[in-house]
Amino acid sequence: MKSKIEDLNKKLKEAHLGGGQARIDKQHDKKKLTARERVMYLLDEGSFEEIGALVTHRTKSFGMDKQLFYGDGVVTGYGTVNGRLIYIFAQDFTVFGGSLSETHAEKICKVMDLAVKVGAPIIGLNDSGGARIQEGVRSLGGYADIFFRNVQASGVIPQLSAIMGPCAGGAVYSPAMTDFTLMVENSSYMFVTGPNVVKTVTNENVTSEELGGASTHSTKSGVAHKTSINDIECLEDLKSLLSYLPQNNKETATHLPYELGDEFREQLSDIIPDNANKPYDMHQVINGIIDADSFYEIHKNHAENILVGFARLGGRSIGIVANQPMFLAGVLDVNSAKKAARFVRFCDAFNIPLLVLEDVPGFLPGTDQEWNGIIVHGAKLLYAFSEATVPRVTVITRKAYGGAYDVMNSKHIGSDMNFAWPSAEIAVMGAKGAAEIIFKKEINKADDKEAKWKEKEAEYAELFANPYSAAERGFVDEVILPKDTRRKLIKAFSMLENKVVTRPDRKHGNIPL
Ligand code: COA
Repeated sequence: MKSKIEDLNKKLKEAHLGGGQARIDKQHDKKKLTARERVMYLLDEGSFEEIGALVTHRTKSFGMDKQLFYGDGVVTGYGTVNGRLIYIFAQDFTVFGGSLSETHAEKICKVMDLAVKVGAPIIGLNDSGGARIQEGVRSLGGYADIFFRNVQASGVIPQLSAIMGPCAGGAVYSPAMTDFTLMVENSSYMFVTGPNVVKTVTNENVTSEELGGASTHSTKSGVAHKTSINDIECLEDLKSLLSYLPQNNKETATHLPYELGDEFREQLSDIIPDNANKPYDMHQVINGIIDADSFYEIHKNHAENILVGFARLGGRSIGIVANQPMFLAGVLDVNSAKKAARFVRFCDAFNIPLLVLEDVPGFLPGTDQEWNGIIVHGAKLLYAFSEATVPRVTVITRKAYGGAYDVMNSKHIGSDMNFAWPSAEIAVMGAKGAAEIIFKKEINKADDKEAKWKEKEAEYAELFANPYSAAERGFVDEVILPKDTRRKLIKAFSMLENKVVTRPDRKHGNIPL
């Protein structure tokens, strides 16, 4: 028996070394942790249980039968993060560059299947040279097996991806179908085709970093939801993100204990400028409302005219969607509508109540927007709010103009409680533009056109540049003092806690894609 135990220990020791010390050193030289170090850092101490440590690939060609590494380039298993069960796979770049073989894929599928059966989040740490080139189609089949599971698990358990090295070709589509993708700056990249292929096909000269680095995907494409400066910060970000999420779609996120106290926040009274055309930072409103330092922003540097993220309000995990007047005056456009729609759908799938903070002058005009399909992309956000059954509350801080008023979680599309600050202006458009259109003849006839325009603008503003005409019709439930917003919201979300909505049976809706 002793020798058998020694034999097992030897095999496990080998497995723990992955591709060997030289390759581990190379990984460290690139300022990257190894797969195993990442798993150990992310999970609570002593909680990791590995599955499949002794798996090896089955390829014989190209001398591969002589190159066997236990684990086959991916560390898989389960453990806890802050006491909560999660399943994990971490690709090990020290073994065949973390490339995906048939057995590597089988190991990932095994933990994904367990995660769905048990109802716990799955986290993937990606660091891979893509399909195992020596395996051909078997490797491609392995990817498809994972993709299929990503889709079946979507909306059932949270799926989080961290890109901590290369992720190219077909490999990008698994993270793309998970709920959130985090990337490490300067050491990770994602692209469907790399710089060499790009050069051949389009004659563009571009580096990996420019084409698909963390900064590109967190600003231009929106593929990355968050970036971190190194592996450790990325793993910490994953832990924070998890803290706002439930285990699965049948549960709600942990509600931290909270007792209502003095909830007045005087600072909220001084944020909106007297001049309605002046910007202000919506972060100030968010931070004045939520529990201290609890905003976890998603897509911070992408489509900055809308803010989305998780926060705690009276201990409850909520999702926030807020127009940002600091960028493009907070208009809705293609990218902001897509960004917000996906976030709304995530929150709805996982029972996270939604708070909308509204200051929107309308949709961004122009050929660029129209030709890029603002009609269909704007419809995504309208659709996402309309189908959401979680508690939904809106606060109109200033502008709620035109079709964008309808889209931004209006009562008409199923919002539960709508509040407005006294500074709210709920109208088809701004008073100046409205006066120009409806009083055009009168203005043109006048001797002093400018004075007439101003007079008519004031007339329109008197009627609509306020929250009261909407409140008279019940489109706004209550006009509230800014300083009282936090208290009102804590009470509203508590009142809505047991909300139940049933929808007609259908296979699925047909969201405009
Ligand atoms: N299949 C099999 N082995 C692979 C691999 C793949 N897709 N990608 C990398 N490897 C192996 C390398 O042969 C090397 O093996 P070794 O440690 O025995 O020398 C090891 O992984 C590390 O690769 P290396 O090229 O030395 O690392 P790098 O940091 O310089 O470059 C990549 C990383 C990912 C840019 C580079 O390996 C690469 O271009 N890989 C191929 C990507 C690809 O075309 N994938 C298939 C299509 S999805």
